[in-house]
Amino acid sequence: MTAAPPATALLEVHNLSLFYGERCAVQDLSFQVRRGECFGLLGPNGAGKSSTLGCLAGLLNTWQGELQFGGDAIRPADDVSLRGKIGLVPQDLALYEDMTAVENLIFFARMAGLSKAAAKEGADRGLELAGLTDRAKDRVDSFSGGMKRRLNLAVGDVHEPPLLLLDEPTVGVDPQSRNHIFETLESLSKSGRTLIYTTHYMEEVERLCDRILIMNEGVALGCGTHAELATSIDQPNATLEEVFLNMTGRSLRDS
Ligand SMILES: Nc1ncnc2c1ncn2[C@@H]1O[C@H](COP(=O)(O)OP(=O)(O)OP(=O)(O)O)[C@@H](O)[C@H]1O
Ligand SMILES: [Mg+2]
Repeated sequence: MTAAPPATALLEVHNLSLFYGERCAVQDLSFQVRRGECFGLLGPNGAGKSSTLGCLAGLLNTWQGELQFGGDAIRPADDVSLRGKIGLVPQDLALYEDMTAVENLIFFARMAGLSKAAAKEGADRGLELAGLTDRAKDRVDSFSGGMKRRLNLAVGDVHEPPLLLLDEPTVGVDPQSRNHIFETLESLSKSGRTLIYTTHYMEEVERLCDRILIMNEGVALGCGTHAELATSIDQPNATLEEVFLNMTGRSLRDS
């Protein structure tokens, strides 16, 4: 029997496992995310971060285990019920290149179940969030990589879901766009939104995340604040990168 979750848990993940054919991507993963928390998910390439987020977002439906959101059980076949509750900013850009910024935002807002009027409002807010109000009517294929990443974030958040999953939202952008995205996330977090954040940038995790789960090869290696993780390896003064390397090892992930 598992211990009762804290009253403030928004998301509970118990023994989540996911296979792609024979390959195990996530194995018996358990963690809880509290309301209003920014929860970091860290791991080397291939650790299973995107697969975990895909299960939570309803993109993957062959997982096993128990998921609860706001106290309600989520089942693999329940994808549709998650619409509106959990938003995903995917690692690979998910935008229609031949549509304008505002058309993308409205389209994804409608997909998330918003009315026409609410979708328009969400799109206006999204354009502001992305710093793209003056480029609203330009096609995405005319945008720089940084503009696309900012729009990708705004699209994932267009319906203001209670839980927002962010899969490496700052990868491959210049410092200006990275800073813009990062400040947006800080302000979402300060306004009480619940975030799960994956990245390979340790300084972002240190700046934004309340607690961190470190995983490798689909398995959780540790979970807690930076200080708790450092203490767990008997190196209370270790940087997060030192903790990460200590737990996950130094070998390259090429397979
Ligand atoms: N569609 C797929 N089919 C088969 N195997 C997959 C698929 N997607 C991921 N995998 C495998 O599952 C494992 C976990 O991959 P995943 O993309 O979840 O890792 P990740 O932690 O997000 O890595 P990265 O930091 O590189 O984004 C890896 O071994 C990967 O090769
Ligand atoms: Mg990934």
